[in-house]
Amino acid sequence: MINIVILAAGMGKRMRSDLPKVLHRIAGKALVSHVIDTARGLSPATLCVIYGHGGEQVPTLLAAPDLQFARQEPQLGTGHAVLQAQPFLNDDLPTLILAGDVPLTKLSSLQALVQAAGTDKLGILTVNLADPTGYGRIIRSEGTSGQIRAIVEHKDASAGQLAIHEVNTGIMIMPTVQLKKWLATLSNNNAQNEYYLTDVIAKAVADGVPLVSAQPDAEWETLGVNSKTQLAQLERLYQLNQAHILLDNGVTLLDPARIDIRGSLQCGRDVSIDVGCVFEGQVTLGDGVQIGAHCVIKDAQIAANANIKAFCHIDDSTVGEGAQIGPYARLRPGAELARDVHIGNFVEVKKSTIGANSKANHLAYIGDATIGERVNIGAGTITCNYDGVNKFRTIIEDDAFIGSDSQLIAPVTVGKGATLGAGTSLSKDAPAGQLTVSRARQVSLPGWQRPVKKT
Ligand code: UD1
Ligand code: CA
Repeated sequence: MINIVILAAGMGKRMRSDLPKVLHRIAGKALVSHVIDTARGLSPATLCVIYGHGGEQVPTLLAAPDLQFARQEPQLGTGHAVLQAQPFLNDDLPTLILAGDVPLTKLSSLQALVQAAGTDKLGILTVNLADPTGYGRIIRSEGTSGQIRAIVEHKDASAGQLAIHEVNTGIMIMPTVQLKKWLATLSNNNAQNEYYLTDVIAKAVADGVPLVSAQPDAEWETLGVNSKTQLAQLERLYQLNQAHILLDNGVTLLDPARIDIRGSLQCGRDVSIDVGCVFEGQVTLGDGVQIGAHCVIKDAQIAANANIKAFCHIDDSTVGEGAQIGPYARLRPGAELARDVHIGNFVEVKKSTIGANSKANHLAYIGDATIGERVNIGAGTITCNYDGVNKFRTIIEDDAFIGSDSQLIAPVTVGKGATLGAGTSLSKDAPAGQLTVSRARQVSLPGWQRPVKKT
């Protein structure tokens, strides 16, 4: 068991934003929430977030029963930040320190560091960077032992130290009793006049505490976000990683660089996804599902062999096996479509169930409706579900045929096998098996003359 402290109080000046840096998002999720979720994978005894810049926004947004929040005000450096967590730290457990602006570190890399440090050593996650500019350099002793002696911040480093490529990722773990002791003796006598957490390294060496290091599997795991450019770069990295997981699982992506997953996407076998699609929340695609270009799909279950054509928007809906949706269809929350349903272009469905083999192929609004099987909804059909105050349901039973341009003024029921003539404004129930029409009888006036312009 360990304590975990996440540093998230800095202001992130280079983001040029009123939002605290750690609340900016990657894949739709705050940077610090990525760190918190990875940290939870270590089942810590304490998970403490240090916040400061941006006031109460961070604790308000993140509040959860397993999180503690400690305010750092003013923000005097990373060592000063950890100091604020002291009351929450269990002395008998080591403390792991993470940065809220380094979102992509993998659980396995943290586990390797925790393992290497055990309960009595100080462990640092380090990485060799081709361009170490801006990072704290890892200073090791000469000779074969190569023991870590100190970390020197870029701004305090000598020319010789600047040539070192091994850097501090900002992630470290150490025994808590010693951490507290070292924090109490930090000074801000450095280029930035800050209390550096990194100064505890030299203190650990002086106290004879053994030091170890671990390395992440990939360099990108340790990249931090300090600007919108870096935020955009990490977003692409994250999305490309997810795309490759899908490819490895056998999903066909027409272009792995043009898919965005902001949540989780579960795919069956032989799923194919065209370019420009965005998946949000929890989405499941059954075997053989095809998704056309530029669809936005959120919190949806799409059953086997359904075909979602280009430019569809699907939110909080279920789509049955073999259904054909779009192009240009919109399924709003509560759309539940059974197998082999067809929803065509410019059809909007909301809070409605549609039975197997039913079709609405063109230009319709289906809201608050219960539709049976093998129903045909003609072009331009509208359920008038709202009287300006209350919503009402429309029921259309099996095998009904709704003529084009009909309005169904809810609450209203169309019986089994009923037919509505085109242009019907239905305000009373339509009996089963009969034709119902509401339009006036068509007349033609022989001898009628078009008006002529008065001179
Ligand atoms: C820090 C490390 C550096 C390391 C780098 C890795 C120190 C002194 N330096 O530098 O060795 O290579 O991270 O990315 O630790 N924060 C607070 N309160 C503060 C200051 C910062 O909570 O008073 C938080 C920030 O919000 C951020 C994290 O600590 O999440 C790191 O702070 P930052 O100022 O970005 O440190 P770096 O200069 O990047
Ligand atoms: Ca940083």
